[in-house]
Amino acid sequence: MCGIVGYIGTQTATEILISGLERLEYRGYDSAGVATVSEGKIQCVKAKGKLYNLREKLEREVNHSQIGIGHTRWATHGKPEEHNAHPHLDTLEGIAVVQNGIIENYRELREELIQQGTEFTSETDTEVIPHLIAQCLHGSDLSLLDAVRQTIPRLKGAFAIAVISAERPYELIVARQQAPIILGFGQGEFFCASDITALLPHTRAVLSLDNGEMARMTPLGVEIYSFAGDRLSKFPRTLDWNPVQVEKQGFRHYMLKEIYEQPAVVRTCLESYLNPNWHADEQPDFSPVNLGLTAHLCDNLEHIQILACGTSWHASLVGKYLLEQLANIPTTVDYASEFRYSPKPLIPNTLTIGVTQSGETADTIAALEAERARRENLEPKLQAKLLGITNRPESTLAQVVDRLINTQAGIEIGVAATKTFVAQVMGFYFLALDLAYRRQTLSNQRIGEIIEGLRGIPPQIEKIIETQADYIEELAHDFTQETEDFIFIGRGINFPIALEGALKLKEISYIHAEAYPAGEMKHGPIALLDHKVPVVAIAMPGSVYEKVISNAQEAKARDARLIGVTSAMNAQEAAHTFNDVLTVPGVEELISPILAVVPLQMLAYHIAAIKGLDVDQPRNLAKSVTVE
Ligand code: F6R
Repeated sequence: MCGIVGYIGTQTATEILISGLERLEYRGYDSAGVATVSEGKIQCVKAKGKLYNLREKLEREVNHSQIGIGHTRWATHGKPEEHNAHPHLDTLEGIAVVQNGIIENYRELREELIQQGTEFTSETDTEVIPHLIAQCLHGSDLSLLDAVRQTIPRLKGAFAIAVISAERPYELIVARQQAPIILGFGQGEFFCASDITALLPHTRAVLSLDNGEMARMTPLGVEIYSFAGDRLSKFPRTLDWNPVQVEKQGFRHYMLKEIYEQPAVVRTCLESYLNPNWHADEQPDFSPVNLGLTAHLCDNLEHIQILACGTSWHASLVGKYLLEQLANIPTTVDYASEFRYSPKPLIPNTLTIGVTQSGETADTIAALEAERARRENLEPKLQAKLLGITNRPESTLAQVVDRLINTQAGIEIGVAATKTFVAQVMGFYFLALDLAYRRQTLSNQRIGEIIEGLRGIPPQIEKIIETQADYIEELAHDFTQETEDFIFIGRGINFPIALEGALKLKEISYIHAEAYPAGEMKHGPIALLDHKVPVVAIAMPGSVYEKVISNAQEAKARDARLIGVTSAMNAQEAAHTFNDVLTVPGVEELISPILAVVPLQMLAYHIAAIKGLDVDQPRNLAKSVTVE
């Protein structure tokens, strides 16, 4: 979604702003703009569409300004047109503002300003902000910082803003109210951005503002204040990220690179969380998994509730299966956006888990906050225990939960989640094993077997990529012209994988796809089937293998083209049922989701790539969904 970049220092601002915005492109946007200050005037340049349109416009002008703010906009209020792109200016063009998030009371503010004679040039919620700041400054000797501070209490909603002024070309003000903004510290130059990726080429010394904090950035340094006006003492931390991590490294798309990174991600998970000294036959008196979870979070649990959206919700469904089957804890999974407005009855000793790859999803963060709030001041067993699962430990999620599991997937650039999904599922294996050990719901021997299964995953994913890539790419050609619908089916622990396969396909190829528990087909969806609707069946050996095969046969009898995802051991037999077989190494059913998802990611990728679509930035989608 929207991205903010700001710069103040000794270099030409526009180049830094535009390259910063390019690093935020993956978040999704439909227009962009920058504002700088030179010779006492704000220069504001905006363009609809991709950033090269903005770059082209900027190249037509000479601009040596050393201060500026930039923005990529993902339309919420008002169409994706140039006049709605940020930055927005006040009437006298003395103040420029970029904003992420939403100003919920903008209509009242706009009405009030219009009655006072203000003319608006956009339909956005943001434009009220520069007008309000300018009003505060008018005829007063307030500093820019104070004018912004006086404006903020008038704004309702979740937002982050960056502000510059024509009259004060030596300062940039930023403020955070529930939308991320991170400061970067260079030598005589300072940066701000809504996402660390924009800062990585310049500095690794960063500081995330907390809610209710603002900063005044000048070429001499950064001062941090609370909204109440108190000066705060905060120190930057050093990131251990390497800018190369966010390069394409020769791959055609980030999504493909990220699919190929999955074995390495799983290896890192295993190294980070499995206790190497734990051996099942030595009767160890410590957990096989080291997630650093406290007894307060884990002991006496009666219920787990998981809150997530999209792909993270699918990973959570696998998690539910694992937590119930391995640790014997009743578990519910809710869409965070639904839970917010229809919370479940309070159950004592509940662990609430928020799962999000961006760590910023507004619905997930708000649902967790609401859960904390409604349990406050209740008796101890009803109080909130919040755990987060994410690959972005620096994100807002970390500020909301009691404890975080870092899934070790690192940053993901492709909008379609791949490696972060696999890493979230790994997080759930570890959590379920840790809880199973603590609650003694599994024997050490069984825990040892599952761990061995998990250790086998990295080379098994490598094998899928090695043996299936060409075949899947060739198969993909068959679905790029006339196919308009796909059905995915699976059962048990692999039903969420059917959901994920369908989501991946629709997100990036724009082919309509639905997923059903295989046994549900005959209760309605089977009516959709004919020779034009391919059916992908996840048929991994285990408790429901025969059932899935029968359900697939029912689809075949309606002329559907059948694509099976199954184990190499069953491939020959499966060839009797399926028209096309995508094979993965044979593993026990419990481990199979992580392998079964890989060919589905590859199928979606190749269909979209052959269609020539923007795989990494599919239309209308954003990597970080920071609005409701
Ligand atoms: C799918 C995808 C989205 C996200 C969803 C939640 O490929 O990426 O469905 O999973 O928007 O995002 P996070 O995980 O950041 O909370």
